[in-house]
Amino acid sequence: MAGRYLVNFDTRELETVQCAFLILGSGIAGLYTAHLAGRYFNDVVVLTKRGIDDTATEKAQGGIAAAVGPSDSPTLHYEDTLFAGSNLCEPEAVRILVNEGPGRIQELIGLGAEFDRADGRLDLTREGAHTRRRILHAAGDATGAEIQRVLSTTVRSNHRIKVLENHFAVDLLTAGGVCWGVLTWDKARERLAVFRAGVVVLATGGAGQVYRETTNPGVVTGDGIAMAYRAGAEVMDMEFVQFHPTVLAVRGVRRFLISEAVRGEGGALLNAKGERFMPRYHPQAELAPRDVVVRAILREMEAEGSECVFLSLRHLDPAAVRGRFPTITERLARNGLDLALDLIPVSPAAHYFMGGVKTGLHGETNLKGLYACGEAACVGVHGANRLASNSLLDGLVFGGRILEHARASPLGPMDYSAAGRDLGPPEGVHVPSLREELQALMQEHVGPVRTAAGLEKALKRFEDWGWIRGREAGTPEAMELRDMLDVAQLITEAALMRNESRGGHYRSDYPLSCERWKKHIILRRQV
Ligand code: SIN
Repeated sequence: MAGRYLVNFDTRELETVQCAFLILGSGIAGLYTAHLAGRYFNDVVVLTKRGIDDTATEKAQGGIAAAVGPSDSPTLHYEDTLFAGSNLCEPEAVRILVNEGPGRIQELIGLGAEFDRADGRLDLTREGAHTRRRILHAAGDATGAEIQRVLSTTVRSNHRIKVLENHFAVDLLTAGGVCWGVLTWDKARERLAVFRAGVVVLATGGAGQVYRETTNPGVVTGDGIAMAYRAGAEVMDMEFVQFHPTVLAVRGVRRFLISEAVRGEGGALLNAKGERFMPRYHPQAELAPRDVVVRAILREMEAEGSECVFLSLRHLDPAAVRGRFPTITERLARNGLDLALDLIPVSPAAHYFMGGVKTGLHGETNLKGLYACGEAACVGVHGANRLASNSLLDGLVFGGRILEHARASPLGPMDYSAAGRDLGPPEGVHVPSLREELQALMQEHVGPVRTAAGLEKALKRFEDWGWIRGREAGTPEAMELRDMLDVAQLITEAALMRNESRGGHYRSDYPLSCERWKKHIILRRQV
């Protein structure tokens, strides 16, 4: 399906910047990797398509999970992660995550991250499918903003690291199975450029924007995954998309995450009749794995003919609620809702992408010189369904491990050139309406409940758009659309192949998990 490049170009005619270590993306995975790379490489460059802090990390509320509590252990965290992952986690990757995680968090604290404390000890909360309180949080519900602040400051103050904002990564440059650089679009100067590097790290995040309803910021359009696929990298577990159960659902108001920690602190889910329903669905009730809560909510909405369910904290101390969740309180107040006293209308929205560019345990991909980490990557640590608050930890642990590998085998910049010349003019592609249609199709047919008929319908439509791939993507918006189309098609194809239900992938025509599908789907473009 995917064409190789988004634009016509010839690298010999473009400005070329050379660096040793190039990172695409400025969330937790990208910036932490940059920070470590700055120890070993003199010239590290971070490219980010908007501002350094325009990331999904910055929006993260609930926190970061790690076995640091007195009654906890990496073994318990390992077991919870495997259980949530529905028998599809890679056990060695999970073992690394839970054992190396606490040390990475200590390092973050050493850099200045201030996590909330009670009586001098780290204050830990609970979220779905965790059997222990093990979620560190900051400023109540602004954990991501604190981590972003610390890492942005750290990276910006390191003279070996250069951050270039408003640089859109268009395509990876490869030859003979080696990635040697990136073709970029400099938004300020409105021109293409080449960045050559011995090591290229994709930390571009997930793809929430392929859905109409998502918690992800507008920048999260699957760019890294799409460009890696076009370049011949393997992608894995593309069918597994996690929907978050409780996202503010008020008509005309932008979707806004209501952290799972709200349920962790006692919040109850009520249907339109005012009944608490989760105990009917799962012994862990509101703290069941996310996919279970999402489907329960959808069933209640259908049964009651309602557009949402409600989160209620009315039985809790109002001052404690407002103090614990200041960001959510403030945001709801702007819409005339009181978190402590009102019933808060919520419904599920796309939140996290378990799949991505397939990597080994040090972020290495099947293309030499190309690494991936964070939500853009798939090392198998989340299986079919990520355990809440494991994603920030994943970014730290597996971002950090890239330096163990890339440092040991640095590749010198090589004298390659590349060109893409066969694309037609961009006429006829109306980007905003195609983007909207794509999001609506994904929402309707490739959402939390899927069927073969719906998936085939979506795929057919994506195939009808094949002609777009023969046209140049002349603007960053058009490039994003192409990336979204590539990723949407990969999700849909994998979802159609997997004739079973597991974790975040639910097929109402195959509602059970089956032993034969206890395996990953790995896709690769033939180049
Ligand atoms: C939340 O705060 O509910 C999100 C946490 C996560 O997705 O890990």
